[in-house]
Amino acid sequence: MSEFLVAAYPWIKALHIVSVVAWMAGLLYLPRLFVYHADARPGSDKAETFKLMERRLLRGIINPALVAVVIFGALLATTPGVVDWRQGWIWTKLVLVAALLGFHICLVRWRRQFAADAIPHTARFYRAINELPMLALIAIAILVVVKPF
Ligand code: HEM
Repeated sequence: MSEFLVAAYPWIKALHIVSVVAWMAGLLYLPRLFVYHADARPGSDKAETFKLMERRLLRGIINPALVAVVIFGALLATTPGVVDWRQGWIWTKLVLVAALLGFHICLVRWRRQFAADAIPHTARFYRAINELPMLALIAIAILVVVKPF
């Protein structure tokens, strides 16, 4: 298994990056849809269209991408010679990944509430929290590439 992981390392990393891009695209786009959905009248055609877009985005892209990120990330983390567990970057990265996962879980809950014709928060709230995944992404990219500590 370790020999396979070492040989497949560049491929697994490429697939990890592809899944990360898809997951982040969803985590950035879904709150954007909530911004406009929060201002749409419940029961209107517009609100119904947002419900459909939100469900498809979450089920078709965000959820499967999360599974792929974790699988390929875990394979990279268990590849011999890739991670020195005495260094801080990997632990800090994992904390930020956990925060992104918490954000994902909030999106799942809010989508369900929107689907039931509730408006969980204001458009202003969704506009503000929209920046959070981008901040986590910037920090994670620096941690994995620069490995500053
Ligand atoms: C359970 C979750 C995750 C685990 C266990 C994990 C683990 C890893 C490992 C071990 C590497 C290889 C580092 C190296 O080759 O030096 C890596 C690469 C990378 N990870 Fe993750 N990762 C996870 C989630 C994420 C997330 C959520 C992001 C971005 C938001 C991300 C972004 C990246 C990037 C951009 C690289 C490529 C770095 C390079 O080119 O060397 N990862 N990941």
